[in-house]
Amino acid sequence: MYQDQHILDSMRLVEAARAENVKLNPRRMTAEEKEQLLAAFHPDFRQDQFSKLEIGPNAGEKVPHELAALLQGKSRLAGKNVDLSNPDYDVDVLVIGGGGAGASAAVEADEAGAKIMVVTKLRMGDANTMMAEGGIQAADKPNDSPAQHFLDAYGGGHFAAQKDLLYKLVTEAPEAIQWLSNLGVEFDKMPDGTMVTTHGGGTSRKRMHAAKDYSGAEIMRTLRDEVLNRNIPVLDYTAAIELIKDDQGHCAGAVLMNMENGELYVAKAKTVILATGGAGRLHYQGFPTSNHYGATADGLVLAYRAGARLLYPDTLQYHPTGAAFPAQIFGALVTEKVRSLGAMLINAKGEAFMNPLETRDVSAASIIRECSQRGNGVKTPAGEAVWLDTPMIEIKGGEGTIEKRIPAMMRMFGKYGIDIRKEPILIYPTLHYQNGGIKISDDGQSDIENLFVAGEAVGGIHGRNRLMGNSLLDIIVFGRNAGRNAAAKAKSVTVGALNIDHVAEFEAIRQGAKLEDDTVSPKLLPNYTRIKE
Ligand code: FUM
Repeated sequence: MYQDQHILDSMRLVEAARAENVKLNPRRMTAEEKEQLLAAFHPDFRQDQFSKLEIGPNAGEKVPHELAALLQGKSRLAGKNVDLSNPDYDVDVLVIGGGGAGASAAVEADEAGAKIMVVTKLRMGDANTMMAEGGIQAADKPNDSPAQHFLDAYGGGHFAAQKDLLYKLVTEAPEAIQWLSNLGVEFDKMPDGTMVTTHGGGTSRKRMHAAKDYSGAEIMRTLRDEVLNRNIPVLDYTAAIELIKDDQGHCAGAVLMNMENGELYVAKAKTVILATGGAGRLHYQGFPTSNHYGATADGLVLAYRAGARLLYPDTLQYHPTGAAFPAQIFGALVTEKVRSLGAMLINAKGEAFMNPLETRDVSAASIIRECSQRGNGVKTPAGEAVWLDTPMIEIKGGEGTIEKRIPAMMRMFGKYGIDIRKEPILIYPTLHYQNGGIKISDDGQSDIENLFVAGEAVGGIHGRNRLMGNSLLDIIVFGRNAGRNAAAKAKSVTVGALNIDHVAEFEAIRQGAKLEDDTVSPKLLPNYTRIKE
């Protein structure tokens, strides 16, 4: 419930201007305007927030300070003796991560007949997938094509996406939807059975398939059931804390740590799939996050220490519309679908200051500019914000649209006395997605033989900015891809003697570089949670 007088005063301006604003279609920015805006206001361009990596495969490149400390950090195994001679687990394919990418990989590897195990530091499904809201893109309508999807995503990503990966993403998208649907995902459908599709920021066609505004939960629920129904072994509350190699330098398993009692286990594997997700809980630049508690860039740390190259680790996605009020949901995702359905971004004076469906980086930078430079933000207890005028959805789509299409959003704010059908909501960018990650080839393999990667831990699929709905898509396409290829590869792998020499070698390089920061990594959980070491 809004109580502060200045918030209420600003809300009255929004209400007064609504009838005129709702008729507007603010023009899109030109390429030059976008470039200038991003350079001046997007957090990725704040040079003082980045460090140059001094060691490892990406030495010389810049990454956020918090990530640099982890990538160049001290191993949790430093000074510990790990007996690798008698592994606790021995499988064909070890899947690290229990989100959508890990689950998809596990299902396909199981389908291929591999002996697999999933390890996850929380529980199966405790992942960003579960928290995804707006939907999943696929060009499967007659007015659309994978080529069109490619162009949208390639442009939206600033022409930096790895073309072979993006090609795979868009061409395999329609089949991914079909696969999910066959597994039991209940996508929104018209009475004749065709799927309901909407726009997202930067899409030229309506290709967002959704399950209301809890698309990720619906997908994760289905994938988790599939993993469990297949009796795939899942080791939960167990984190991977280092990769293991064999005497040929190929990836051959992982050292695991029980999150409750700190006990170590050795898992030997012919191939390994890292599906550890993103990094929102590192709270880069002090931003709140839409991510789940486990999003601490662990996969990047493990792979980097073992010698894998990262791609674009300096680019993050700040979702334009994180909840800025009330405090209880600060940083929580307010799905882009709210804007797809017609809500506009309005400043403190009641002005529609931008087209609501610009790409995410542009939208976030525009909101930051509105608050910081133009002085048009609404002061909130946590900082500043702009309005997202949700009652416009009911004006444009008819009464009942909000309850039907975004019921979770309605409930989230309703709990705090804000009826989004009648009152606008306050939003500000929130740390949402890691655009960069581990470099892979289109079979899903990293620079390290037999180490596959899928999901948000991968870098390069989306370039330097991802469009809405292409992440739920990539976890399926690249999760399945990694599962199939890791299982196939495992058939011809003979694992040599296990070692973790790379850990000691990395430590020697750290010491040689006289790095002062002794941060221990991977981080596993944010500072405001507790684990037993
Ligand atoms: O806005 C959203 O619903 C988020 C979707 C995504 O990150 O793809």
